[in-house]
Amino acid sequence: MADSLRDDDGVSNPSFNTHLTQLVDDAIARQPSRRALLKTGLGLAAVPFLGGLAACGGGDSPAVAPTPGTPAEQLLGFQSIAISGDDTVTVPTGYVATAFLPWGTPLITGAPNFAVDASNTAAEQEQQVGDNHDGMAFFGFNTAGDGFGSRSDEGLLVFNHEYINPEYFYKPDTDPSNWLLPFTLEKARKGQAAHGASVAHVRRTGAGAWELVRNSQYNRRIHGNTPMSIQGPAAGQPSMQTAADPGGIQVLGMLNNCGNGRTPWGTFLTCEENFNGYFGWNGTLTPARTALEGRYGLSQAGFGYLWHTVDPRFDMAANRNEPNRFGWIVEIDPFSPASQPVKRTSLGRFKHENAELVIAPNGKAVVYMGCDEVNEYAYKFVSSGTFDASNPTSPANRNLLSDGTLYVARFNAGATAGDRMGTGEWIPLVFGQNGLDATNGFADQGDILIRARQAADRVGATMMDRPEWVAANPTKPGEVFMTCTNNSRRGTPTESSNAIDGTTVAGQSRPAVDDANPRASNAWGHIVRWNETGGDGTALTFDWDIFLLAGQPSFTDQRAPSSNITMDNLFNSPDGLAFDSFGRMWIQTDGNFSNTGNFANNGNNQMLVGDPETKEVRRFLVGPSGCEVTGITWTEDRTTMFVNIQHPGELGSHPRRPAGYGDNEIARDPTAFSQFPTAGVRPRSTVVVVRRSNGGVIGG
Ligand code: FEO
Ligand code: CA
Ligand code: CA
Repeated sequence: MADSLRDDDGVSNPSFNTHLTQLVDDAIARQPSRRALLKTGLGLAAVPFLGGLAACGGGDSPAVAPTPGTPAEQLLGFQSIAISGDDTVTVPTGYVATAFLPWGTPLITGAPNFAVDASNTAAEQEQQVGDNHDGMAFFGFNTAGDGFGSRSDEGLLVFNHEYINPEYFYKPDTDPSNWLLPFTLEKARKGQAAHGASVAHVRRTGAGAWELVRNSQYNRRIHGNTPMSIQGPAAGQPSMQTAADPGGIQVLGMLNNCGNGRTPWGTFLTCEENFNGYFGWNGTLTPARTALEGRYGLSQAGFGYLWHTVDPRFDMAANRNEPNRFGWIVEIDPFSPASQPVKRTSLGRFKHENAELVIAPNGKAVVYMGCDEVNEYAYKFVSSGTFDASNPTSPANRNLLSDGTLYVARFNAGATAGDRMGTGEWIPLVFGQNGLDATNGFADQGDILIRARQAADRVGATMMDRPEWVAANPTKPGEVFMTCTNNSRRGTPTESSNAIDGTTVAGQSRPAVDDANPRASNAWGHIVRWNETGGDGTALTFDWDIFLLAGQPSFTDQRAPSSNITMDNLFNSPDGLAFDSFGRMWIQTDGNFSNTGNFANNGNNQMLVGDPETKEVRRFLVGPSGCEVTGITWTEDRTTMFVNIQHPGELGSHPRRPAGYGDNEIARDPTAFSQFPTAGVRPRSTVVVVRRSNGGVIGG
């Protein structure tokens, strides 16, 4: 393999291709020795993370018992920190950051320890924390300690495992030219076991640190072979049926779980993103790839995971309908360890990023969702039923996502073209409306949901610059933000739109710029904001503007950012996005970390905080070498923040990448690019616990 498997490079088949926006060659020319920068100098208040998973970093003072619900002193109550290229996590003065629950941590009772040479078996991996941590939510216990509540000292931390980096994940085998070969069913099973999600029972110690409650009944791994049910209009559809599941109602596993959501009834929503990468076919596919399969980016080799070569479930020549059973929002009840996860088909099938749930003024549950690929769409779901706030965990509430209406967004230019603001509308994806009928090849509502991208093509949704996370401002009803991470396929030459008949292969259109996506080649990304009419999430119209354009202040052409981006808060590729309860907007990046050219002065991937009113943005955290920062949640009192560090050490745009260095070399030299979070050990995705030394509210 020439390059790392990537989860979401914005095209459907990114395997082995260097990202278009990488300036790797420049970086190599400037820094030929990959070891030259292998140092771990500490930034201000940095916690080294070296020498094991210490409970607290140096300099931590005993936590002051926080007052639950302590109001924030100010919205941005910290000083913006500098960029960093170091192999550590940096946070502002007065904060401490601690690694917690990295890949391989024994989770289930009796689970073995992590093998530092990556030799754990598939069966062992099923009992350990998975890989590539992503979306995450903390659910506090109730006072009795037996269910969902609002305690801030003990609860269930649920977090996704999006994918694996095979170069770090598998111990090298016997083929000197490819560490992954020979590939076996055991290897596929181990990879499947590291996907999905973990449920971890955690509690705060007297000193304010956090620990895993070993042997808890709640500790659970949900992975690529966990039985789960299919519910809603797509359940039982002919295209959901397989030989193993002729009813089309039961599937094994969930895959590429990226961002997340949480419900007020105490469940976790997890979002299947690039599911297509796990499928392929051996020999000839008969009949040939359909428009639907092409529209979701299914291909013969997938992303190079090789599962289809050893596990017939992922061989489309043997199991043609299996891919249709992935690409959904999955609802998990962490407080019921024996419960089956549920794929909620009412919310549509696409490459889901996250699922931001708000309760509208009329009580309906509204779920905002992005489909992350170049020139894809933003969606929202509105439930048919209404939320009963007097009994949050009632059976009726817990079934709210079973039935409702899925909409897709159209961003119009409004009164003036070119001013980067306008009006918008939500177009229902409902059988019999807007051309979604048999005349145009749609059989019924279940069919529309399985083919949501094609339905959105038909109704004229707006092609966006890779919709990532959506976040709603809890202090201003109806105000919603969405990250558009970047787009290398917009503008001249050869402009084209997603075909109305759904025949465009995923990632192959190249639309013209528009007001909501104003850059011909958007290497840095932007954040779009909309206000639902009347502050009502169920409204069918909205106004929108661009909250932020990332970029380089030193340029005056299209590379120039919006005025709230300065040399003190540079970043690229906003991805994770979430509000805390005080109205701070936390922005996480999954961008180019070469720190050169278009991305000079960006440093490692990072997390910033934005003030939605003033638009001021400050940098709060910088991640370790080669990582992505993604996933964020808080305890109810907002004095502990959990953040995920995903894939430290990923080669990608790494500034120390030597010429000719690829996955086969990394696999045999796994500590070369990062040793986060444990010195001397291959890099591992991990949760990071962030607290204030004085025990106060994070960010205030
Ligand atoms: Fe998995 Fe689009 O990030
Ligand atoms: Ca306009
Ligand atoms: Ca993401």
